[in-house]
Amino acid sequence: MRKFFITGGSGALGKQLVDYISSNYEVLSPTSSECNILDLDNLTNIIKNFNPDVVIHLAAFVDTFGCEKNIEKAINTNIIGTINLVKACLNINCKFIYLSSEYIFSGEKGNYTINDRPDPINVYGKTKSSAEYIVSILPHYQIIRAPFIRTIYPKVFTNQYCSRYFLDEVVEKITYNIINNPNNLIHISSERMSLYDLYLKKGIKVEPILIPQNQETVIPKDTSLINNSI
Ligand SMILES: NC(=O)c1ccc[n+]([C@@H]2O[C@H](COP(=O)([O-])OP(=O)(O)OC[C@H]3O[C@@H](n4cnc5c(N)ncnc54)[C@H](OP(=O)(O)O)[C@@H]3O)[C@@H](O)[C@H]2O)c1
Repeated sequence: MRKFFITGGSGALGKQLVDYISSNYEVLSPTSSECNILDLDNLTNIIKNFNPDVVIHLAAFVDTFGCEKNIEKAINTNIIGTINLVKACLNINCKFIYLSSEYIFSGEKGNYTINDRPDPINVYGKTKSSAEYIVSILPHYQIIRAPFIRTIYPKVFTNQYCSRYFLDEVVEKITYNIINNPNNLIHISSERMSLYDLYLKKGIKVEPILIPQNQETVIPKDTSLINNSI
């Protein structure tokens, strides 16, 4: 592995991942205006010219409530954009990494393993789950579900359970698994706890709140994952 092409490099995870990987490898990570994943021709040309060994697809519309309000944008960015990137990689001999989400699960069960079938309840999860299937068409794909906290909110749910890392803790783990883990489906996850307890453990003081009743159909209650990463 020498050359990495990364979409979404200006995003929260993208910035840190591009920085980290660039210290050892050649990285091309154009901005969304230089390389809009909805422009198939331009995307295909850029990828063909760079001829990457690894493609890491991070570009997405990640705002859960934003996706509920703007379903067309969610479908375009998360599904059509992924279809375009997969098409652009069809004739390139690369490993294709897709950063997915814990929200491909309903949250009714918790402790999800890689053998559990996706059953998303919200638009974001449905688009990410659809994109997982599309990516799996490629011969050398890897789907990584690596839940992380990127924004520190002042009020945090005591009744939402997860197994998230904070963003700064997950970048090295993702990179290590991309390079060394041959599995197609990887959960990179921490121990299961409530979101509120997770903040407390990190020493971050926040106000405890319950998931508001009108958000219960959109916020999955327990999307903790069983870790199978190396
Ligand atoms: N946030 C989480 O808690 C979390 C957890 C697990 C997995 N993930 C996954 O990890 C990935 C990165 O998440 P993040 O939180 O870093 O996202 P983010 O900060 O919202 O960044 C999204 C990135 O996608 C780019 N983008 C959006 N539309 C695009 C388009 N049409 N063409 C090209 N680029 C486009 C954005 O570029 P511009 O800024 O120029 O628009 C930005 O660089 C996502 O796939 C997400 O689903 C996120």
